[in-house]
Amino acid sequence: MAATGSTLGFIFVVKLLSLCLFFGCVAGSLSSGVYWRRAHATFYGDMNGSETMQGACGYGDLIKQGYGLETTALSTALFNDGLTCGACFQIRCYNSRQWCLNETIVVTATNFCPPNYSKPEENWCNPPLRHFDLSQPMFRKIAVYRSGIVPVIYRRVPCVKTGGIKFEIKGNPWWLLVLVYNVAGAGDVVDVKIKGSNTDWIQMSRNWGQNWQTSALLQGQSLSFRVTTSDRRMVESDDVAPADWKIGDVYEGKQF
Ligand SMILES: *[C@@H]1O[C@H](CO)[C@@H](O)[C@H](O)[C@H]1NC(C)=O
Ligand SMILES: *[C@@H]1O[C@H](CO)[C@@H](O)[C@H](O)[C@H]1NC(C)=O
Ligand SMILES: *[C@@H]1O[C@H](CO)[C@@H](O)[C@H](O)[C@H]1NC(C)=O
Repeated sequence: MAATGSTLGFIFVVKLLSLCLFFGCVAGSLSSGVYWRRAHATFYGDMNGSETMQGACGYGDLIKQGYGLETTALSTALFNDGLTCGACFQIRCYNSRQWCLNETIVVTATNFCPPNYSKPEENWCNPPLRHFDLSQPMFRKIAVYRSGIVPVIYRRVPCVKTGGIKFEIKGNPWWLLVLVYNVAGAGDVVDVKIKGSNTDWIQMSRNWGQNWQTSALLQGQSLSFRVTTSDRRMVESDDVAPADWKIGDVYEGKQF
């Protein structure tokens, strides 16, 4: 019986692999959003949304960048080393009559909730725990403030954003660092390519969070971008930055 079971298991895995080969695993990553999973949630900051600056995803002023207060930090198990930055989650409090409020929120992942291995308790951002550290205003929509921490259920949902994908040019003339934000759809960018008006497409590498880098010299050329999200969809924005682009400027491309 055991042999039969493992044979079936093997066939199942092979089937999954061949599905992935055919569909590039799109079906797999999309269907993962269908199911509600369990996690826990806490909050940080105050009701005014202080502490909405910077963070491990590399975004800047989250209010100015359009994320507002609808944000969360993710534990190691969900953060995926920064690749989940920009993804959107629907969250509701679960199974606590005492603490749950009857509201469902949608938040964008904009930060990391770091583990603390020397902490004997309240170390809920340690692996393998799935944990959302929400902005306080978001937490207070789904649960009573005094609870501090509540069980939640969550699932991935498409991100809804206003306007196009934003490209903030950082770095210096010899090292271009581009922050990619305000991404709709899957939201989590997994690949970025850049093209100068005199070059072919150049593969960028991820530096940290959603900051992508290249050492190609592109000064004096207009810039185009190809952005791919985790569902393998790609959007190309041609000549989003004019030839006289400057470090520190933000340019707007197309949207998913
Ligand atoms: C929130 O901002 C208001 C007005 O700026 C201020 O009066 C209040 O003290 C702030 N609350 C907190 C918790 O910081
Ligand atoms: C909670 O939400 C559900 C589904 O949206 C609804 O059917 C139910 O009446 C709500 N309960 C309360 C107490 O608001
Ligand atoms: C980790 O937890 C320990 C024990 O509670 C605490 O002293 C320390 O400051 C924490 N470290 C960080 C980086 O928060």
